[in-house]
Amino acid sequence: MREVAIVGAGMTRFGELWKYSLRDMFVEAASGALHDAGADRLDSMYVGCMSGGQFVGQEHLGPLMADHLGMTGVAAVHVESACASGGVALRQAFMEVASGMSDLVLAAGIEKMNDGADVTNVLATAADQETEVYYGITFPGLYAMIARAHMQQYGTTEEDLAWVAVKNHKHGAMNEKAQFRREVTAEEVMSSSMVSEPLRLLHCSPVTDGAAAVLVCPLEMAKQFTDRPVKILASGLATGSMALADREDPAVLDSVQKSGERAYEMAGIGPRDVNVAEVHDCFTIAEICCTEALGFVEKGKGGPAAKEGFTALGGCIPVNTSGGLKSKGHPVGATGIAQTIEIFRQLRGEAGARQVENARIGLTQNMGGSGASSVVHIFEGV
Ligand code: COA
Repeated sequence: MREVAIVGAGMTRFGELWKYSLRDMFVEAASGALHDAGADRLDSMYVGCMSGGQFVGQEHLGPLMADHLGMTGVAAVHVESACASGGVALRQAFMEVASGMSDLVLAAGIEKMNDGADVTNVLATAADQETEVYYGITFPGLYAMIARAHMQQYGTTEEDLAWVAVKNHKHGAMNEKAQFRREVTAEEVMSSSMVSEPLRLLHCSPVTDGAAAVLVCPLEMAKQFTDRPVKILASGLATGSMALADREDPAVLDSVQKSGERAYEMAGIGPRDVNVAEVHDCFTIAEICCTEALGFVEKGKGGPAAKEGFTALGGCIPVNTSGGLKSKGHPVGATGIAQTIEIFRQLRGEAGARQVENARIGLTQNMGGSGASSVVHIFEGV
């Protein structure tokens, strides 16, 4: 296997992008990544998107996006794994370059969620139709059940949950690409409108438009494109049961644990070696469960981590310095690549006010559905 690096990154602002179409967003992000690396060609590209068909009526995204990038002819394919589509697109690009099949591969993620689709029901297609959605449940409801289980078993409180939002909004306020650039207090979170008990408005990631892209090549070629490449040390992908009811313990995300273990093993490191991480906080409880599953905190001890500052900037393991899905926004198919870009910036020392000092090893964890799929990547600044 060849060693692989990221050499360029580009992304749109995240938010309600009424003036952009799906293809406009892709072109801005992809041409940004190419420009960043000074590259004018590609061997292939992967386009992560959860549901272009249902959100904006557009499928066949590989050739469409290649065409609009002015690169008709390159190998291009759409990748789907619900909200983990972007992370899986990066994994595909990593494997293609590592195998020696291609040299210059673009991994992109896109989603246009604000153009009038029935967002909640489109998102629910990533849950189990026969055993969950048929009975009326949607993602806020599924994560609310995970939160209840965690509260009952481990004593996690509504205040613990609220502090994940407080921390991530604080980080996101420093990110010019974020959808919500404002801080919130725990009191505001705990008095925001109820969505699905115990999760309130300010516990949820928002509905977001956005795109992100990174350029991947062999490490030995990287210096042609940048002085500061970021090496991809490992990629771990795992699945878990689709339906919550089939899990022994709904407060444990098996796929996250397995994808993390696979990535740690491949990288030859453990959770304590990670200096900065972006994890999938689609709801505040998800960040708590994911930090436990990745071994940053002990099982059942993730609740107070945000309030105590353990996972905040300046803490032992800063989590979601970009603002996370909660504040930066969650254009589902783009999220895994946007997480990668935050780690790329952190490991190059380019994260400005939210820079983690001496960050050398970074991790991203991107999840599909209520944890039926999870992909973890580990990176090193070189
Ligand atoms: N966090 C913070 N503020 C939010 C927000 C969020 N998640 N969602 C909306 N807002 C703000 C809006 O900006 C708006 O503010 P304004 O009145 O100052 O303009 C206000 O809240 C109402 O916005 P609106 O769009 O009417 O909210 P909504 O009630 O239609 O949607 C949710 C709120 C939480 C239901 C929606 O964001 C949602 O479904 N989130 C979850 C998405 C999801 O499931 N993703 C996949 C995860 S697996």
